[in-house]
Amino acid sequence: MADSIRFPDGFLFGTATASLQIEGGDKNNSWYRWCESGRIKDGSHCIRACDHWNRVEQDIALMRELNQQTYRMSLEWSRIEPSRGIFDDAVLSRYRSEIEKIIAAGIVPLVTLHHFSNPLWFEDSGGWTVPDAAQDFLRYTRRVVEALGDIVSDWVTINEPSVYLIQGYVFGDWPPGETSIPKVLRGARIMARAHILAYRAIHEIRSRSGFTDTMVGLAHHLRIYDSAGGVLSRWVAKLYYHLTQNMFVEATTTGRFVFPLSGEELPEREQYLPDHGYFSDFLGVNYYTRDMIRFVFSPRLMFGRREVTAGAPVNDLGWEVYPEGLSRIVRMYAARYKLPIYITENGTCDRADTFRTEYITDHLAELHTLIAEGFDIRRYYHWSLLDNFEWVEGESARFGLVAVDFTTQNRTVRESGRLYARIAATRTVER
Ligand code: FCB
Repeated sequence: MADSIRFPDGFLFGTATASLQIEGGDKNNSWYRWCESGRIKDGSHCIRACDHWNRVEQDIALMRELNQQTYRMSLEWSRIEPSRGIFDDAVLSRYRSEIEKIIAAGIVPLVTLHHFSNPLWFEDSGGWTVPDAAQDFLRYTRRVVEALGDIVSDWVTINEPSVYLIQGYVFGDWPPGETSIPKVLRGARIMARAHILAYRAIHEIRSRSGFTDTMVGLAHHLRIYDSAGGVLSRWVAKLYYHLTQNMFVEATTTGRFVFPLSGEELPEREQYLPDHGYFSDFLGVNYYTRDMIRFVFSPRLMFGRREVTAGAPVNDLGWEVYPEGLSRIVRMYAARYKLPIYITENGTCDRADTFRTEYITDHLAELHTLIAEGFDIRRYYHWSLLDNFEWVEGESARFGLVAVDFTTQNRTVRESGRLYARIAATRTVER
């Protein structure tokens, strides 16, 4: 029987994108080089992407057509600071005008400072694995917040440090293509420190100008790890939670380094810890899927192989569609951190748009139940507004509510996009 659920007033529906994945045209970043070296599975190149850099008005018109109330976007560090310490004011003005247009459309911006791509000068000086990285990020953050802080109150410092480090330094599928566990651990500490310094700087700069509504957080990649069977697999699933998620969340949220990050203290922790006890004002949750973990004797795989239960529904990339996982994640992390929750990403790869509609309604239904139980969930960002350049998968993986023909750059709202537009307008999900 059809059933209708209504979200509270004040809950915001939005979409998310990342600069490298949509803008096109920038050659000064680590992903440009990765594409040039032929590492993208379908041979496509981020230089094209959605040409958003030149199509801002058109894309904001799409957000309006989809009745969006908030929009998560990221800034391309390599454009803003093309060489170490040299900032491009024209680029900052260009971003300012984009954000002003978003605000004029009645949409609340949530701005991410780092979403996977690095300026080449930063990459070449050791990326996030050298101590200078935290100061470099702080300098960039300060400059950006001084330029945009009067119109942007809501910030994500870094997107998914765990994914960035694991793909780039364990699997080596992403730039810089290394395989070094010590670098992952060093990178995790440095990214946590960079987040904490940026958290403090954003608050300081905005409060100096009298703003009291600043919200700063980090977008965590959180998935479900269940055992594919047996005691050892159950144990390895726990290890996966710890090493690929929990140690990162703990370090960035409380500034505490737990094993195997322990052994070093964060000098700023005691000194800077805000009264509410966290270096975050919200917990950003990026949730997509679940992995079934099966024990294998391979240290390189952290003793586990990721599997999907036979017969489980999967998306175009083979990721299990598992809406209940969203509630399980929220329950798990809300129990540890007393922070408001933003679902900073949730979405699926479905070129034919045959199951995205159901994906959206099922995941929103999970959220609605949690809200009714009293969980403080304030926003939902669907990944993504547009089909875009999906990292090593390239242009073939389609996550958009709006389909993009990359040759003509034509945009077409998918059926699922129309459904999401209705949900956002009515705050109601029909099931
Ligand atoms: C997340 C990333 C985002 C996008 C989605 C599909 O891990 O943050 O950029 O690639 O996955």
